[in-house]
This record gives sequence, C-alpha cells and structure tokens, in this order.
Amino acid sequence: MSESKRLAGEKAIEYVEDGMIVGVGTGSTVAFFIDALARIKDRIKGAVSSSDQSTARLRQHGIEVLDLNATGPLSLYVDGADECDPHKRLIKGGGAALTREKIIAEASQKFVCIVDPSKRVDVLGKFPLPVEVIPMARSLVAREIQAMTRGQPVWRQSADGAGVVTDNGNVILDIHGLAIVDPVGLEQAINQIPGVVSVGLFARRPADVVIVGGEPPIVL
Ligand code: A5P
Repeated sequence: MSESKRLAGEKAIEYVEDGMIVGVGTGSTVAFFIDALARIKDRIKGAVSSSDQSTARLRQHGIEVLDLNATGPLSLYVDGADECDPHKRLIKGGGAALTREKIIAEASQKFVCIVDPSKRVDVLGKFPLPVEVIPMARSLVAREIQAMTRGQPVWRQSADGAGVVTDNGNVILDIHGLAIVDPVGLEQAINQIPGVVSVGLFARRPADVVIVGGEPPIVL
C-alpha cells in the first residue's frame, strides 16, 4: 500500500513545471509527493499548503510556503483522496484538512489526485463522509444530515478520546452508511446547512487527473 502511494506521489512530479507555485494537499500519499518535490525544489517558486502538517514537512525540506492570498490562482494542485469514483469525483477529509484542500482545489487550474488502488470505487460513500462544522452547530448539523441522508453522523474523536479540532478550530462529523448516487446534489445540499464549513465531497470541482500508484502507475 505505501509502495503504491510512493509511486503515485513520484509520478505526480511530472506535472510540476519550472517556476511554478505548487498547491500541496495533505496525507500519507502527499508526504511522498513532498519528499519528491524536495529533490527539485530549486526549480519551483514555492508551495501553498493545505494543512499545518504539510506546511511542517515542506519547511523541513526548505520549500517556501506561500499565502494563497498573495499568490493568486495556481496552475497545479496535488492531493490524495479517501475515495475516487470513475468520474474523478472524490471523498476527502480523512486527515481533517478538507476545507483548505477545497479552497486550494478551487483556486487551481489543474487538480492532480494521487491514490493507491484501494481508493477506487464505483459509488462514493463507503468511506465515512467528513463534514467540517462550527462547534456550536455540531448537533444541529448532525440532525439535519441524518434526516436528509439517513446516514449516521459520528463526531470524530482523536486517539486520546477528545474531539478532533481542525486547523481552523472546528469539529468533524463523519457520515457513515451512505451510497452517494448524486454527489453534486449532496455536496450542494450539505453546504446549505447553517454551521457547515465544508463537506469532503469534491464533485462540483472533481480532480482533472487521477494517478493510481502501481508498477507502472495508471493515469486516468
Ligand atoms: C486529508 O484531509 C485527506 O483529504 C487526504 O487527502 C486523504 O485522507 C488521503 O490520505 P492518505 O493519502 O493518507 O490516504
């Protein structure tokens, strides 16, 4: 599994062009991409990061991390996913970084998604769908999503039993038991609930390219 992730991360380097500012996602697959990016760091201007975790790894490698407000639109965003369907629509947010990931995906001309083969599905939803929520709205949003989808919202806890807090100071609800037949519609509907910051469905803005790690990697 980790070898597939490494192969996907290294393949994505082919999309990096000289002088680029590269949007960088979050997760164990992206960690391999960051390590590969470090080898060509003198050819790029810097990176825009989707999480404190990725920022730390980029800086460890001496890659400059820039503010999206200062860079303007990006040419390239590279990120992983928890699930990917045949239309390159994704579930993301297993690492709780979905909101910043969505912002950078929206700001980017090309979104290259790097996955291992286990992430490919026909219908999204077996992986619990992450939703980032303003803390005071947690119960309200859980009730509304349950009524809307019949899925089961679960408040994400960390290993020490405390509620997970995102880089933006919010909480995560993971919606279990979904089979998402209309990802664009569900993304829009969940986004309408007051208190929802973002939902980890990337359907309105799917990936442009999906690299499935393997020997050789498959490019979709
Ligand atoms: C982070 O919030 C996620 O969107 C990740 O991109 C996703 O969880 C994939 O992570 P791995 O690359 O670790 O499987």
